[in-house]
Amino acid sequence: MVLFVIIHLIGNFTLFIGSEAFNGYTYFLEHLMHGAFVYIAETGLLLFFLSHIVAGISVSLRKGRARDVGYEVVGNAGGPSQKSTASLSMILSGIALLIFVVVHLFHFKFGPGEAEGYITVVDGTQVRDLYRLVIEEFNKPVPTFSYVAFMLFLGLHLRHGIASAFHSLGVASPRLTPVLRAAGVLLAVLLAVGFLFLPLYIYAFVEPTAGIIAGELTV
Ligand code: HEM
Repeated sequence: MVLFVIIHLIGNFTLFIGSEAFNGYTYFLEHLMHGAFVYIAETGLLLFFLSHIVAGISVSLRKGRARDVGYEVVGNAGGPSQKSTASLSMILSGIALLIFVVVHLFHFKFGPGEAEGYITVVDGTQVRDLYRLVIEEFNKPVPTFSYVAFMLFLGLHLRHGIASAFHSLGVASPRLTPVLRAAGVLLAVLLAVGFLFLPLYIYAFVEPTAGIIAGELTV
């Protein structure tokens, strides 16, 4: 899932190049391996996502059951203890991301398409104008700033999640663990900043492109 998020961010950066680059990129993905790639990737993602939710909820419930009495003081005890705001709020940031992904899919993946007039041409082929949809959405304050807020949860979740994933897989040693933890924090910050920079940049600097919605020319 971390790999998906990295690739998704790199792909989204084509938004900075323009309509042809972004729509061409989504068109390329949709037609990779004669269309099979998207189905394979989506099935894999869904399975990873669902098993991650089940594992996350189960860990959180087991943690609650493991102590009848709560800790008197909650904090990082040093050494193997890795308590942080991120680690203490994993279930909350996870639920926030679940809500985000569902809203996000309805927003873009299942949002308005060719039938609603979001049409453009890439390399002589008519395709869905996803670029225009993204730019229009991030010219509105509510989608823009709610995306920014959700990306803070993404950063928080990954700040603890990336390094912990290596630990869970047994990749840990006195030398390696501090490096993995630092790399995990760095990657989490880069991803969250990258994702929240996009809507903010579009909101501030990119005007919606002209298009046709239900037969009317809009700007
Ligand atoms: C600025 C932030 C983001 C933008 C502009 C963005 C944009 C998009 C767009 C336009 C699509 C639709 C692609 C298509 O229909 O071909 C999409 C799909 C998707 N996005 Fe994002 N996204 C962002 C952040 C995220 C984040 C942070 C996550 C995960 C935590 C995420 C997860 C997904 C997923 C799972 C899909 C569906 C992929 C598929 O089924 O093919 N997105 N995104």
